[in-house]
Amino acid sequence: MESGYTVEQLRVAATDAIRAPSLHNVQPWRFRLRDGGIEVLVDAARRLPATDPSDWGARVACGAALFNLRLALAVAGAPATVRLRPYPSEPDVVARLTPDVPRRPTPAERSLYAAIPRRFSNRAPFWPDPVPADARWRLGEAARAEFCWLELLIGVSAVNAFAEIAHGAHRVLERDPAYRAEREAWIRTTHASDGVPAAAGGPLAEPQDLLPSRNFGGRPRAPGRDFEPEPLVAVLGSAGNTAIDQVVAGQALQRVLLTATDAGLSASMLSQPIEVPSAREQLRMSLGRFGTPQMVMRIGYGQPGRPIPRRPLDEVLDLPVRHG
Ligand SMILES: Cc1cc2nc3c(=O)[nH]c(=O)nc-3n(C[C@H](O)[C@H](O)[C@H](O)COP(=O)(O)O)c2cc1C
Repeated sequence: MESGYTVEQLRVAATDAIRAPSLHNVQPWRFRLRDGGIEVLVDAARRLPATDPSDWGARVACGAALFNLRLALAVAGAPATVRLRPYPSEPDVVARLTPDVPRRPTPAERSLYAAIPRRFSNRAPFWPDPVPADARWRLGEAARAEFCWLELLIGVSAVNAFAEIAHGAHRVLERDPAYRAEREAWIRTTHASDGVPAAAGGPLAEPQDLLPSRNFGGRPRAPGRDFEPEPLVAVLGSAGNTAIDQVVAGQALQRVLLTATDAGLSASMLSQPIEVPSAREQLRMSLGRFGTPQMVMRIGYGQPGRPIPRRPLDEVLDLPVRHG
């Protein structure tokens, strides 16, 4: 391969990368072009010290953005070779992409790519219709293709046991005033390019809800519009829990979410039981799995909705300075 990626290729691919999900929609990423390679960095200015003190969430979000970058480049006929955490002395650089041998995109890459602008977190109640077996299988395959596992909780008792762990974690987090202040600071009631619009925050929690939901300032629900009684809960896990494992998990998360979108499914994320270490360990033990749970998703058929805003591209790009 000749010289490397161009500014134009970075611009086009980053437009897709920024559609990735992130905790409270903080968008903790930067993208830069260095020596012909595209690099993805955790943006130190967009950390969530109370909610995400270890940067787990920032690395998962950057991994999700990295997956979109990979897809965008592949669909443009310029697939990438990826090195994760390429510079030990620069831990905020989570990945470096350099051009691989050009090839035509696969049909699977095209369909996942087409799902990027249609994916969004759907926190509203889903229809009661079950997710069919072939879609469940595709979701598991998506996680495995990115070196992770996806455990679908089957049966009322597995979901109830999970719900108990999740509520416990939710209560622990909500007892922390710094955590609450951070969550409230990222709720948006007027147009903004980051944070969670209250209108997208889902209905306010009610005592009968099986799963805990973060309060993003949503409104009380219409009577009779309770959450689905038997949600499909999926736990995504990685082999370990190093910084690299978390970036790997972010890529798998995005692949699972795009696969769900492509299958006509909606999803929301709930990470309270991941953020509280004792709850995460309880969850891991309840699944009887090796490795580390990295994200929990609720998946089902939902009302169509709209993606929420992102910051302008120029705020997240570091382009080489032109001389002369
Ligand atoms: C690491 C991580 C953790 C998240 N945790 C939650 C959560 O606990 N509850 C929730 O409603 N959304 C959660 N989300 C979803 C984000 O709030 C959402 O991605 C963001 O607001 C952008 O919206 P979008 O997904 O519609 O593009 C999480 C996302 C990531 C990447």
